[in-house]
Amino acid sequence: MGMQRLAHVDVTVTDLDLATAYYTEVIGMLETERDENSVYLKCWDEPNHHSLRLIYGPRVGFDLMSFKVDRDDDLEEFERRVLNYGFPVRRVSKGERVGQGESIQFETPSGQVMELVADLEMVGRATSPVNPVPFVEGLPGIAPPRLDHLLVTAEEVGDSTKFFEDIFGFRTTEQLLDGQGHQAATWLTVTDSPHDIAIVSGKNGGLHHFAWWLDDWDHVRRSADILAYNGIQIDVGPTRHGITRGNTIYFFDPLGTRNEVFTGGYRPDPEFPTITWTEDQIGRAIFYYEGELNTRFMTVHT
Ligand SMILES: [Fe+2]
Repeated sequence: MGMQRLAHVDVTVTDLDLATAYYTEVIGMLETERDENSVYLKCWDEPNHHSLRLIYGPRVGFDLMSFKVDRDDDLEEFERRVLNYGFPVRRVSKGERVGQGESIQFETPSGQVMELVADLEMVGRATSPVNPVPFVEGLPGIAPPRLDHLLVTAEEVGDSTKFFEDIFGFRTTEQLLDGQGHQAATWLTVTDSPHDIAIVSGKNGGLHHFAWWLDDWDHVRRSADILAYNGIQIDVGPTRHGITRGNTIYFFDPLGTRNEVFTGGYRPDPEFPTITWTEDQIGRAIFYYEGELNTRFMTVHT
């Protein structure tokens, strides 16, 4: 049994048409469904119904993060563990949410709404399941193959990290310690990626960014061209993270939510020893080439 991977990120937007245009034409995601207040999007190499839900709302914000578990039975076990940890759990019936079956929802210690679901609707990749070509011709924009990870903010990073480790079996690949030896940020994995979620010190409930996977540095460079051509505000990069060793660009969608494209990094095995960074090296830890954070780094949506 167990936690499998990130499934989807749900964000609220104040202009659904503008956000949809950006995520389909500049990012190059595919719209799979829309209802009266939501648009559902997936990347070309993702087989499931959606990895991003845009929800119309009065303010830009973070609605929830959804993770896929292996089987429906896992929901009961994780529900029991979350309840034992002292957090209420809400059951969401099949049919209540588009593109997926039954799920459970609860708040993490840092106030993000987290959803677990086993049954995700299969709509298929954009390539053929038989003798596929390795790309999809004619997609607009960056066209990342898949969603990769997200970074959330927490007043008590250590408490949230322990929650993810103890209940779901995430492993901490890297940690940034402050001068007192407390965790100021952590990078956690449940797959073979250097991180599926990261937690950084900040206000509870916040989303710092979510990121798509790209196959290589060449695709990162081409993404920068596409972002610049479309007048998108680039936050940082193209550059490299010291932590995860990944290549990256941070940028903002037209409503101010931070996005990232990411590639590279290492493949941690189950016994991967946690890498520690000290606060005096925070610049190189986050942006290895620049060696410093910019003043916008801690802007987040809740
Ligand atoms: Fe990231």
